[in-house]
Amino acid sequence: MSTLITNIGELVTNAGPGGGFAAMDDAALVIDDGRVAWTGPAASAPAADDRVDAAGRAVLPGFVDSHAHLVFAGERAAEFAARMAGVPYRAGGIASTVTATRAATDAQLEANLRRLAAEMLGQGTTTFECKSGYGLTVADEARSVALAARVTPEVTFLGAHVVPPEFGGATDRYVDLVRGPMLRACAPHARWVDVFCEDGAFGADEARAVLAAGIAAGLMPRIHANQLGPGPGVQVAAEVGAASADHCTFLSDADVDALASSGTVATLLPGVEFSTRQPYPDARRLLRAGVTVAIATDCNPGSCFTSSMPFCVALAVREMGMTTRQAVWSATAGGARALRRDDIGHLGAGARADLVMLAAPSHAYLAYRPGVPQVAAVWRAGRLVLGGRSAR
Ligand code: NIG
Ligand code: FE
Repeated sequence: MSTLITNIGELVTNAGPGGGFAAMDDAALVIDDGRVAWTGPAASAPAADDRVDAAGRAVLPGFVDSHAHLVFAGERAAEFAARMAGVPYRAGGIASTVTATRAATDAQLEANLRRLAAEMLGQGTTTFECKSGYGLTVADEARSVALAARVTPEVTFLGAHVVPPEFGGATDRYVDLVRGPMLRACAPHARWVDVFCEDGAFGADEARAVLAAGIAAGLMPRIHANQLGPGPGVQVAAEVGAASADHCTFLSDADVDALASSGTVATLLPGVEFSTRQPYPDARRLLRAGVTVAIATDCNPGSCFTSSMPFCVALAVREMGMTTRQAVWSATAGGARALRRDDIGHLGAGARADLVMLAAPSHAYLAYRPGVPQVAAVWRAGRLVLGGRSAR
């Protein structure tokens, strides 16, 4: 069963040289068997079994949100309100979500997770990564990754989020638990291993130890780095060949060089700076140096409770110096690179047919009309999963 989507005002394919941003006007696209079979001018589109008239609207690759923490219970609106009144963000707030998460049933956690996943889909996200990290016992981390695996293949074991309070600051003892029994229980459900490398969480050697154990267990490394201040996280990421160093809010020139030469993606999370009143990282500095930049939400109840990639694209453009093309590329192809995926984030022939149709004529509207719901339809693996008749 093939579908022709025609009369597309702007089709963003990211199928330019080297997988760079590329778009065409007055375009069409054919989906066959869940994949993109053809793209080109609407005037020369081949026939298909089914036909959708985009009526001049824009079609983009589905957003790839490569950083989210969706397995949790409770909320921290009061902490956010206090921040807006001048209290700085600290990693310590994580402990209150840990308490709520441990007290929740599997069914409650799964319902919250599915609600957030549906929220993401409604905003055009067709692939998302999901971390554990609010359980911090063997059993609670194991159920977190198992629940995450029900909604996404991109599951990350983040037992090394913070040292839980019952360890009374005995970081070494907790790291031994994380890289031993906890990792053994979680690795079968996960693809990635992550560490929060920051003052108040884990230092460079602890991060190295956890990532090395994860790699030995067959997981691929990624890292929370340089979020709250300068630190060793980015250097550790480059050293271990991490797919991505996430946050990158406080970078030295040596950090930028390390990202550029290692090929580790810098995943920027502008919703966090928005929600913590921290300075935004300078995306242009990274791009100038040749670093691959991704944009993701970091959706979590503490530092940033948005599930909206369009909101993050708007912030990246307005606050981090990106062009609309760069921001859209980073939210699609960049996210795919941060997850080491070549089947998503672009609409070249053979790509998975993950598509977003906007209720707007071009990708620029994502930043031009911030905060306005503009997702008209979503296809995942060629199947229309949102938008129904309104897209026809
Ligand atoms: O990515 N930085 C560490 N972890 C999350 C925040 C978690 C929380 O505050 O609950 C983050 O920002
Ligand atoms: Fe995070």
